[in-house]
Amino acid sequence: MKNLQKIIFGVFVMLIFCVTFSSFEKKKPDFFVTKGFPKPVYDFKKNPLDERKILLGRVLFYDPILSHDSTISCNSCHSQYTAFTHVDHALSHGIAGKVGNRNSPSLMNLAWAKSLMWDGAINHLDMQALAPISNKLEMDETIENVVKKLQHQKFYRENFYAAFNDSTITGQHVLQAIAQFMLTLVSANSKYDKVKRGEEKFSDNELSGYKLFKKNCEACHTEPLFTNGMFENNGLPVDAELNDMGRMKITKDKNDSLKFKVPTLRNVQYSAPYMHDGRFKNLNQVLNFYSMGLEHNKTLSPILLNRKIYFNTDEKENLISFLMTLSDKEFLYDTRFSYPKR
Ligand code: HEC
Ligand code: HEC
Repeated sequence: MKNLQKIIFGVFVMLIFCVTFSSFEKKKPDFFVTKGFPKPVYDFKKNPLDERKILLGRVLFYDPILSHDSTISCNSCHSQYTAFTHVDHALSHGIAGKVGNRNSPSLMNLAWAKSLMWDGAINHLDMQALAPISNKLEMDETIENVVKKLQHQKFYRENFYAAFNDSTITGQHVLQAIAQFMLTLVSANSKYDKVKRGEEKFSDNELSGYKLFKKNCEACHTEPLFTNGMFENNGLPVDAELNDMGRMKITKDKNDSLKFKVPTLRNVQYSAPYMHDGRFKNLNQVLNFYSMGLEHNKTLSPILLNRKIYFNTDEKENLISFLMTLSDKEFLYDTRFSYPKR
């Protein structure tokens, strides 16, 4: 009799476990890490991914309500089909047509980002959205006022309640939801990735380009993220008008002058114009610059100082063929990242 009780109790516990686990499974998002990627930097335990929070973050990302006059959304400067950069804009434009002072970077694989912004001004993704919201040239709004505006909408009251179990909207929850959406922007299914997984093969041109890349670019644009996450000076002559000193602005250390965060080269085919000020319109201009335009100022990376890069026309073509293998069309057209239906 005692044994039977034990068995019934055991089955009961298992049932509870299964029910809880399957409902947890349903809410667990479809966020996966491809083989070969390092461990994410982002601490998911502090803001565990949840489908409802991700969706809320996505709606916020596309909603101009985050800006002072409700004209500019995150999407205005980060559109999906250009790998979340500002289409055709060297310097991004914000509220009332005001011109910012930097190029909008592509957004992807942010769970692996050690710091954010060209100069690393932000060191946590959960704080990131505050910067464009409060920037006078971008959205020119306060988080307090954003919260007030959201609280007025039934849609947001209901969805914040569903996501955070709290119908009083807070700035922290707004930022966490946006961070969750950004974390899901994973690009890891380019031809390059398929070759690495043994599913496809490089063409001869792509393979020659890959070899040139390994020799000349890999040290900073390190695989598989195509950035080492560090601040480097790649020899760009300083723009007299912008006079942007990069990392030095944050650290005040003159050894950091003209250093910028190494950008990823994934989806680089779509993210023109290039560099922190968008000075190059296409990849050919970028390669011409690395071939002969480097300025030998004091903080130039030793990697570039000690290497004489010169690419002939064939080599440039091959290198560009390789860079095209970093394009991930599924990422650009993934409906989980597109304008949400409300
Ligand atoms: C007016 C244009 C504009 C708007 C609006 C805008 N951004 Fe940006 N974003 C930029 C620019 C420019 C940078 C680079 C700034 C810098 O380095 O100083 C940037 C940087 C970023 C970065 C850092 C990426 C990296 O790899 O370092 C993230 C993440 C980001 N934006 C997300 C957002 C989110 C979320 C919103 C909405 C809350 C938003 N942006 C609104 C232009 C914009
Ligand atoms: C010493 C480190 C270093 C090396 C080596 C290097 N880069 Fe870069 N690269 C950078 C940095 C830093 C930036 C951003 C500079 C800026 O905007 O001021 C950059 C920017 C770029 C960009 C612009 C990307 C964007 O989204 O704006 C491209 C394209 C690029 N590099 C390609 C290459 C190629 C191809 C090679 C090899 C021929 C190479 N890089 C070698 C550090 C490096």
